[in-house]
Amino acid sequence: MQKTFTILKPDSVQAGNVGAILQTIEKEGFTIRALKMLHLSQKEAEGFYYVHKERPFFGSLVKFMTEGPIVAAVLEAEDAVQKLRKVMGATDPAKAEAGTIRKLFATNIERNAIHGSDGPDTAAFEIAYFFNQLEIT
Ligand code: RTP
Ligand code: MG
Repeated sequence: MQKTFTILKPDSVQAGNVGAILQTIEKEGFTIRALKMLHLSQKEAEGFYYVHKERPFFGSLVKFMTEGPIVAAVLEAEDAVQKLRKVMGATDPAKAEAGTIRKLFATNIERNAIHGSDGPDTAAFEIAYFFNQLEIT
């Protein structure tokens, strides 16, 4: 079993899609091991997405990620990292496969409903960024 990390982004919370997205995740066979809602500060969002700090979209991404509350979760499944990326769909919803979370719930390449770790090392960093050991079952 492997763990991965996900964020239901501010657009998902605002649109009332938290329940539907978590249901999709559970139906796909993930077990939720930790879950919380929080509102990121600018510093916290910048720290989370620091790998993108040189990208042209960084400022806009941080603004988006801090505009409202998010839901953060630790998910467990076999091959969880890759599996979640597949269930999420492409970054740009216009290119996402039918039935994926981004195809169903994203607005555009930035307001794309969900984050998922892109590798096991990233997942470990991101889980520790949001949860302490006592909060993960
Ligand atoms: P994520 O990290 O959120 O799971 O998304 P991802 O791997 O599919 O995409 P990534 O390249 O890591 O980009 C992180 C987030 O930045 C926003 N973005 N905006 N305006 C743009 O061209 C652009 N490109 C990316 C998206 O919110 C993307 O998920
Ligand atoms: Mg990414």
